[in-house]
Amino acid sequence: MRRKLAAGNWKMNGTAASLAELAVLGAQLGDDGPDVVICPPAPLLFRAVHAAEDTRIAIGAQDCHMQPKGAFTGDISAQMIADTGAQYVIVGHSERRDTHKERNADINAKTLMAWASGLTAIICVGEELSDHEQNNTLDIIAGQLAGSLPDGAQAHNTVIAYEPIWAIGTGKVPTLEEIIAVHDSIRATLINRLGDETGNAIPLLYGGSVKPDNAETIFKAENVDGALVGGASLKAADFAPIIAALARS
Ligand code: 13P
Repeated sequence: MRRKLAAGNWKMNGTAASLAELAVLGAQLGDDGPDVVICPPAPLLFRAVHAAEDTRIAIGAQDCHMQPKGAFTGDISAQMIADTGAQYVIVGHSERRDTHKERNADINAKTLMAWASGLTAIICVGEELSDHEQNNTLDIIAGQLAGSLPDGAQAHNTVIAYEPIWAIGTGKVPTLEEIIAVHDSIRATLINRLGDETGNAIPLLYGGSVKPDNAETIFKAENVDGALVGGASLKAADFAPIIAALARS
């Protein structure tokens, strides 16, 4: 059985007051069920770890640098993230690939840094609307995966998130058939590259406008092991039903 994971990406939203949501969410999670991780903005990491202490919620960052340390003003290293008590880091989110011009090779290097610091990397891939419309999705995803995922990935330190760029924050979601096709293809690629055991054990998340009212349908796909959720992860009242739908799937 693959582990299920519900990950919330708060992006550049929230202040210390928002951390009250962690206690609310934590209180609604049973003793077992899907793994849950919240990725708040970097300045909140340390306090988020503390706020989630008595809950099952793990904390993650939204990015790390590809170098271990040095003259990189404004950046944060994987080691610094681990030092806060966080356990995960998102790498290669499309918003960073876009606004920070991150390339697959950068994301590969960031993932290696994450692993070296004991963090689980949530590696994001996803196609633009034009690629989707031209039926290039599977090729684009295969290329991103080939470049972004380092050799030596293991199930305990790697999660892949498929987030079609055109579905992020738009309310648009691929059909279940489209999600199945992409996730099956990612699974086949992982098995091909990493072998049966590891390839089958790495969780695959879908992301892009996941909401309480569409989560159940999305989780019907066999190779969807969870979700990477933006807007609907900010409030426990929205995220909890998504986690519950995942638990039932
Ligand atoms: P939304 O759920 O707000 O569409 O964001 C998805 C996302 O980008 C999560 O990383």
